[in-house]
Amino acid sequence: MSYTKRMSVPAANLSSMPNEDFDQEDPLYASGERGNGTSWTVLNGDSKVVSSMLAPGSINCVITSPPYYWQRDYEVDGQFGLEPTIDGYVTNLRETFAALRPALTDDGVVFLNLGDTYYNAKGRPHGKDEKHRSRRLPGLRAVDGPGLGLPRKSLIGIPWRVALALQEDGWTLRSAIIWVRKTAIPEPTSKDRPWRKYEHIFLFSKSPRYFFNREGLDGEEDVWFIEPDRKSLARGTHYAPYPRALVERCIAAGCPEGGTVLDPFVGGGTTMYVADEMGRSSVGIELNPDFCALISENMEKLW
Ligand SMILES: C[S@@+](CC[C@H](N)C(=O)[O-])C[C@H]1O[C@@H](n2cnc3c(N)ncnc32)[C@H](O)[C@@H]1O
Repeated sequence: MSYTKRMSVPAANLSSMPNEDFDQEDPLYASGERGNGTSWTVLNGDSKVVSSMLAPGSINCVITSPPYYWQRDYEVDGQFGLEPTIDGYVTNLRETFAALRPALTDDGVVFLNLGDTYYNAKGRPHGKDEKHRSRRLPGLRAVDGPGLGLPRKSLIGIPWRVALALQEDGWTLRSAIIWVRKTAIPEPTSKDRPWRKYEHIFLFSKSPRYFFNREGLDGEEDVWFIEPDRKSLARGTHYAPYPRALVERCIAAGCPEGGTVLDPFVGGGTTMYVADEMGRSSVGIELNPDFCALISENMEKLW
């Protein structure tokens, strides 16, 4: 990847007074401004740390899909999703959301997409997936070995564990949206249970009163039928992108015009591309610098 630009000027969304605990070098990777007054900012670093540097009240809406528990390797040290314990994973996510909370406006909302994981505990590594390098995890995953404290073959219940932890932390859980994919990947090796066809999108608010535009829901309520994108800037890569239509709906419902969207696990950049096209500013945090390079290139090409 050729993009190596790092900007030294502070972007609009960064607080000039970083959190005292901050011990990472300047996370600003690249940023730009549009003629319509919006801006985009790519920040490279650990979302738990970098989120705490965002200026208070600078974000209207968070839309994100963090790494799922033991599903992929994003090939970067410090990545979430490969924690040896379920609690470790839940703690990393709850700390990230606690860190970004001051940056969210009082009337701001969070859309959090999470999928679940089975505890197979077979004692041998997960089968190889030749098509997807990122789905090949080295050695024994925590969900392959003993010691997770659940009966073998359990659905772990990851999305709800995270949702309840955030609720405990003071987030108001407003909806547990079911995102249905008719063309979900089949699971032919699972002969004694239904195959998975849905994931969760939790809607949280910071306060009891918040910005929400029901017209943005396009006539659907808490079951969303959205198919994966055939054509996407992030498709064919190993970012595990979610569909643009999913982001469009979240923005239409949860971010005022001219507002700012944050994705603390921005991956291939879907959230930023859609926000940009919908006239919203965007901030993306990503640990893998190669992904930051790709997003920055695409953002510069878009206009
Ligand atoms: C599921 S992907 C996001 C895909 C994105 N929604 C898209 O449409 O392209 C999750 C991303 O989180 C990143 N990530 C993992 N741990 C992180 C951390 N601690 N801080 C920031 N990013 C992290 C991974 O590198 C990966 O790109």
